[in-house]
Amino acid sequence: MQIIDGKQTAADIKLEIAAMVKKMVDEGCKRPHLAAILVGHDGGSETYVANKVKDCAAVGFESTLIRFEDNVTEKELLAKVQELNTNPDIDGFIVQLPLPSHINESKVIEAVSPEKDVDGFHPVNLGRMVLGMPAFVSATPAGIIELLDRYKIETSGKHCVVIGRSNIVGRPISILLSQKASPGNCTVTVCHSRTPDIGKITSQADILIAAIGSPGFVKADMVKEGAVVIDVGTTRLPSALTKSGFKLHGDVLYDEVAPKCSYITPVPGGVGPMTIVSLLKNTLLAGRKEIY
Ligand code: GUN
Repeated sequence: MQIIDGKQTAADIKLEIAAMVKKMVDEGCKRPHLAAILVGHDGGSETYVANKVKDCAAVGFESTLIRFEDNVTEKELLAKVQELNTNPDIDGFIVQLPLPSHINESKVIEAVSPEKDVDGFHPVNLGRMVLGMPAFVSATPAGIIELLDRYKIETSGKHCVVIGRSNIVGRPISILLSQKASPGNCTVTVCHSRTPDIGKITSQADILIAAIGSPGFVKADMVKEGAVVIDVGTTRLPSALTKSGFKLHGDVLYDEVAPKCSYITPVPGGVGPMTIVSLLKNTLLAGRKEIY
C-alpha cells in the first residue's frame, strides 16, 4: 500500500508555480493577482481563505481579500462581483462558499465573468469542461487528476466509482475520468444518496472516489483488494486533541481500509492541499490568458 502524499505533491507544485511566476516577472509581465470574497465568519471558510491568501504570497502572486458581514445584501455582493469583473488588475477571483441563505448562490456564481472564474464554477466553464474544451476546472477535481497523473496511476479501462454527485466534486470528476484523456478513459459509475446497496457497487471499483462529506462512510468491506482510494471528505469536527480545537475527518475509515488499497489519500494531507494548488494553477492560467 502506498500513501498518496498530497501535502508533498502540493509543495512541489508550488515551487514549480513560483519558478514560473519569477520567469514571468523577469520578462516584464505583471504578477498574477487573485481576489477572494469572504462573507461572514464561518470557521472553515476563514481557514480556507486564509490559506489561499498565504499560498498566493508563497508563489509570488498578488492577492486581495474582500470581506463582507453576514448581512450583506445580494445587490451589494453582485456589485462587488461586477467591479472585480471589470478591474484589469485582477486576473481571477473567487467567492467563497457557502453564502448566507438570503443570497442566491447560483446568481452570484453566474455573475462572475467566465474569464475570471478561477473556481471553475460558472456554467460556461463547466460546459466547456464537459465538451473537452479549454476551461477553468474546479479545484478539487483538478487536484485529484493531478495526483493520479503524478503518481502514474493507470486509469485507462479501469472501473472508477464516485460516491457523491455535487457540482463541485462528484459530477465534474466523474466526467473528467470518463473523458478520452490521460488520466481518463475510465468506466465511471456515480453513486449517491438514492443508490441502493452502495457497498455492492463500491466493492467493484478499481478506483474509488469518496466525496459525500460523511465521516467514515467507506468501510473495509466496501473496498476491493488492491483498489486506489481517493478520500475527498473534509468534515471539521470539534476535538480536544488539536490546537485549533477541530479535527478533519475523511469519508473513508482509513485504518481499516488502507491495508486493502494499492494507493490511498490520507485526511488531512491528501486531496485537501491539492485543491489550493489547483486554484493557484488556474490563477496562473488566467494571468497568462491561456484559457480565454
Ligand atoms: N467552499 C468549499 N470549497 C470551495 C471552493 O473550492 N471554492 C469556493 N469558492 N468555495 C468553496
